[in-house]
Amino acid sequence: MAPTELSSGALEAAELDPVAIRKDFPVLGRPAASGRRLVYLDSASSSQHPRSVLEAMDSYYETTHANVHRGVYALAEEATARYEAARVRIGRFVGAPDPAHQIVFTKNATEALNLVASSYGRRMLPAGKAVLLTEMEHHANLVPWLMLAEEKGTELRYLGVDEGYHLDLSDLDRLVEGAGIVAVTAMSNVLGTVNDLRPVIAAAKAAGAVVVVDASQLVPHRVVDVGALGADFVAFTGHKMLGPTGIGVLWGRTELLEAMPAFLGGGEMIRDVRLDGFTTNDVPWKFEAGTPPIAEAIGLAAAVDYLEAVGMERIAAHERALTRKAIDLLEERHGDDVVIFGPGNDDPNRGGVLSIGYRDVHPHDLAQVLDAEGICVRAGHHCAKPLMRRLCVGATARASLYLYNDEDDVTAFSDALAKAGELFG
Ligand code: ALA
Repeated sequence: MAPTELSSGALEAAELDPVAIRKDFPVLGRPAASGRRLVYLDSASSSQHPRSVLEAMDSYYETTHANVHRGVYALAEEATARYEAARVRIGRFVGAPDPAHQIVFTKNATEALNLVASSYGRRMLPAGKAVLLTEMEHHANLVPWLMLAEEKGTELRYLGVDEGYHLDLSDLDRLVEGAGIVAVTAMSNVLGTVNDLRPVIAAAKAAGAVVVVDASQLVPHRVVDVGALGADFVAFTGHKMLGPTGIGVLWGRTELLEAMPAFLGGGEMIRDVRLDGFTTNDVPWKFEAGTPPIAEAIGLAAAVDYLEAVGMERIAAHERALTRKAIDLLEERHGDDVVIFGPGNDDPNRGGVLSIGYRDVHPHDLAQVLDAEGICVRAGHHCAKPLMRRLCVGATARASLYLYNDEDDVTAFSDALAKAGELFG
């Protein structure tokens, strides 16, 4: 099957057809360990792969593999051309004005954020300038800044989370004053809150701060245009958007990427090396030390082809409708037994992440009961321990929705909760 071809009638209807789409995802056709239908509700952690992504990577390994930017033989040049074409494809998907030079491939979004904290934060953040973060960040957008604070004594400040699970912007102007970096998530992996970044970016720009956006949870689900966003850096990851693990993406403004020192050292990122020093390669290769994730870039480009063939607007509309139904069902059927840690249906822009507490059942116990019913959810702190403390819980059980989920999945989730209720009394 060609990478962009959907095997089903998924393109025919205006509304997306999750049952048809599921047929493109081999793993979703297997039964759960319990023998039941596999209901995959953990895409916020890692999404599944359509056949076209697997085939693109297989075909690269079967026909084209050689190291990139090194060999002068035709096979190596072909591999390099495919790798660089993937960069442009992925950059265009997020609206990068100059994808060939502004897209850096990393190992994951965590590495992309570490790159910014290390290269920009350690070396270019003026002394005395603070870093403004939020209480709803994933550890990937917290720990690199905590490391910076440990090393340079940088002051870290935080935008809080209000009772409605949105960012509390009431003190934004005061907090942003004197900040050199504002680093914020576009969508919370715990709450499903999609942040309105416009006021945050406007305030940051007025204060002269550089803006870093962790878009790991948003890029897979919504149309994102980094050119229009107004941020300086945007990080996301391949494995939450139907692509493989082992590849993350950093988009950055050209002038900043050019001014920043290299992050990791080694092959590929250099122009020259002497025994007493080195000079660096041009962007983006300056930030791609060592053999890069070649097959993964090609796989991620195929994932982008798939997402665009289905249509990002349709995916977003489908997820919005399904999330609305899921919240209605949880509230109507389970009432006070369920607490949803995240915006309700009064926020039509929320994402399809449903973190819940069920009575006093521990989220891990809940996840085990759900697993016996064939349902995969993530239980735990979701790499957001400060947010868990803010919510006064140690953990939640989190169901997350994507283009291959439908009402049957949501009903199965709700039925399994009722079963857990019977089991735990
Ligand atoms: N960041 C991923 C999650 O939220 C791993 O589950």
